[in-house]
Amino acid sequence: MTTTRIDVITIFPDYFAPLQLSLVGKAMTEGIIDIRVHDLRDHTTDRHRSVDDTPYGGGPGMLMSPEPWGMALDAVRSAQQAPNQRPLLIIPTPSGEPLTQELAHRWAETDWLVFACGRYEGIDARVAQYYGDAKVCPDWAGVREVSLGNYVLAGGEVAALVIIEAVSRLLPGVVSNADSITDDSFALGAMADLVEGPSFTRPRTWRGLEVPEVLVSGNHERIAAWRAEQAQIRTQSRHLR
Ligand SMILES: C[S@@+](CC[C@H](N)C(=O)[O-])C[C@H]1O[C@@H](n2cnc3c(N)ncnc32)[C@H](O)[C@@H]1O
Repeated sequence: MTTTRIDVITIFPDYFAPLQLSLVGKAMTEGIIDIRVHDLRDHTTDRHRSVDDTPYGGGPGMLMSPEPWGMALDAVRSAQQAPNQRPLLIIPTPSGEPLTQELAHRWAETDWLVFACGRYEGIDARVAQYYGDAKVCPDWAGVREVSLGNYVLAGGEVAALVIIEAVSRLLPGVVSNADSITDDSFALGAMADLVEGPSFTRPRTWRGLEVPEVLVSGNHERIAAWRAEQAQIRTQSRHLR
């Protein structure tokens, strides 16, 4: 079994306590994922442990300085464990490419992910430029700037948690029933651009609402056809395609 290594750099390490819970926590205990959270302020040199400064050109708010980021990222990079490992740097930002299940699948095949969690007005743009330049940083696997959606969060921590959870549940052994991953909304293959249709459990009648008859028919072909049809209907009705 290969362990997927994930490093997170943040000014709020405590934000990542929920990773100890549920599937991701279990995956850590079982050695499927190795998550290390680092405090960006440990890589500052002034007594105030400052990580931000005013933006060139003026404007409201503060920007994260490149210097502590450079030192933190270099320190993480130097703690390589296996030969030939190159980390992929993921920088959450509202201006990044949208997070998709396809990206989660791709990153689940990567053995080392590093998250840079921005705060304030974000991170000096040269950080992404520097680590994304294969000539300057050949020991990195590049940079992906990723957005959770068209809205603005206060920091990249929530985005990193979301991505870590989406990636982790795709790693072999994390979700006990592998079929539940292939049947999910947006799963690679037949579901790639579809969401899952409605699902039901007992009781068969609840507050006057019945479970669709086909689901209790025991006819697996009919059930599969109904589910495929419902996935189409729901995807179209929610304008997801
Ligand atoms: C207040 S936001 C900065 C917004 C930035 N000034 C802009 O307008 O694009 C602070 C940080 O939150 C995170 N963030 C905010 N919205 C996000 C989103 N939709 N997706 C991913 N990360 C986000 C990023 O790490 C960002 O650097």
